[in-house]
Amino acid sequence: MNSKERLIIFDTTLRDGEQSPGASMTRDEKVRIAKALERMRVDVIEAGFPIASPGDFEAVQAVARAVRDSRVCGLARALEQDIDRAGEALREAQASRIHTFIATSPIHMQRKLRMSPEQVLEQAVWAVRHARRYTDDVEFSPEDAGRSEIDFLCRVLEAVIEAGASTVNIPDTVGYNVPDQFGALIRQLRERVPNSDRAVFSVHCHNDLGLAVANSLAAVLNGARQVECTINGLGERAGNAALEEVVMAVRTRQDLFPCDTALDTTQIVPTSRLVSGITGFPVQPNKAIVGANAFAHESGIHQDGVLKSRETYEIMRAEDVGWSANRMVLGKHSGRNAFRTRLKELGIVFESEEELNEAFARFKELADKKHEIYDEDLQALVTDASLAAENERLKLVSLRVCSETGERPVAEVTLWFDGEEHHVTAEGSGPVDATFKAIDSLVDSGTELQLYSVNAITSGTDSQGEVTVRLEKAGRIVNGQGADTDIVIASAKAYINALNKILAPVQRAHPQV
Ligand code: KIV
Ligand code: ZN
Repeated sequence: MNSKERLIIFDTTLRDGEQSPGASMTRDEKVRIAKALERMRVDVIEAGFPIASPGDFEAVQAVARAVRDSRVCGLARALEQDIDRAGEALREAQASRIHTFIATSPIHMQRKLRMSPEQVLEQAVWAVRHARRYTDDVEFSPEDAGRSEIDFLCRVLEAVIEAGASTVNIPDTVGYNVPDQFGALIRQLRERVPNSDRAVFSVHCHNDLGLAVANSLAAVLNGARQVECTINGLGERAGNAALEEVVMAVRTRQDLFPCDTALDTTQIVPTSRLVSGITGFPVQPNKAIVGANAFAHESGIHQDGVLKSRETYEIMRAEDVGWSANRMVLGKHSGRNAFRTRLKELGIVFESEEELNEAFARFKELADKKHEIYDEDLQALVTDASLAAENERLKLVSLRVCSETGERPVAEVTLWFDGEEHHVTAEGSGPVDATFKAIDSLVDSGTELQLYSVNAITSGTDSQGEVTVRLEKAGRIVNGQGADTDIVIASAKAYINALNKILAPVQRAHPQV
């Protein structure tokens, strides 16, 4: 790391990212993502909103226990019960932060909170003081700062810094700002808040106008020293600023930026894949940095240029963001120890020898079908197994599909549903359609299929296919995933995973509603 100032990277994939419809993650998945973020040397990991549900509390607690090298943060509204719950969830963290927030824009104060500006200010100060009872590291956000009045923002920031907030985060909650204006806002706040030198200024930009990264970078050029972002730009509505884009822009344009991050950028692509696999949100091919085409050259002129000198058309090296990290790690002859060690390096730890043995048996089965096993295969193997284990109501026992030219495919499926075995058969326009129809003839889910996608996890025709299915029912959206070297089986697993989520009751509070 050079002598430049540090730009703090605050990752909120596990909190704001999880607020994307259908992106919910289990406790173990969150721990795996948190370990990947720690490997990447992210400074702060926002692990969730502990008051949302007992499951969210446990997930934050598990991340706090598992992560040692990054600070672990929990979100709390400016309310006593939220802050107490966050403090409790973070108790075992090596380094913790409580992030508390309350809205400061006229529209939010009047219509959502029904509070006067004076009441909001008082509540904000009280919340910061209360959070300081649990940790020295308290962050405060005036929600919807991007539409707040600057005079009021200055008063609130001065008061919360005085009360002990060491980071003040300026969110463009609805993605309304544009770069020049947002940069100027940060500069003015830093100039006008009398004690601004006692806190790190942070930004949290949403992407409703496609400007989240541009706004974050404008803020950095105007003195912000923390950026809140997510892997693949996941997040509420159009998402948050994409971590990989912010980090690589700052790293690539060191001639412009007075600061740099401490990130190990070679972890970017593996982490992006992990998040995409777990959430079922595919990465578009032309996505900057992590899209499959980000470093591919189609036109002959470009290819010629790159072959003569790569700098003619490439401003970054693919290997610097981890494109070459896709290496074979294990194979048919790898033993249990090598398997356990590699999974541990990936943040996957088994609670019992029995679980390890089961996973190892599945690994051997896969290695019989596929010569080279990559990290992505291992991640998919574990995701697939934990999905199947968690969702008890519906299970795939066996599947047989007949596909023949000129004939309508027929699927015969055996399923466990609420403890009983059932055999169902259906025809469809293709093998996947027939399989889904057969399953639905038993479950009668009343759901609408919003998305069906298949991705090869690694290269080659023996690759596992990773299928994502998105279902909607009465406004609730869930994603299901499944992986297998047979894509019809992967599809059945993904559909069953999504149906199990729809069948499960949910009770979870949203921080901003
Ligand atoms: O977008 C937002 O304002 C938030 C806050 C909770 C920081 O996510
Ligand atoms: Zn947000």
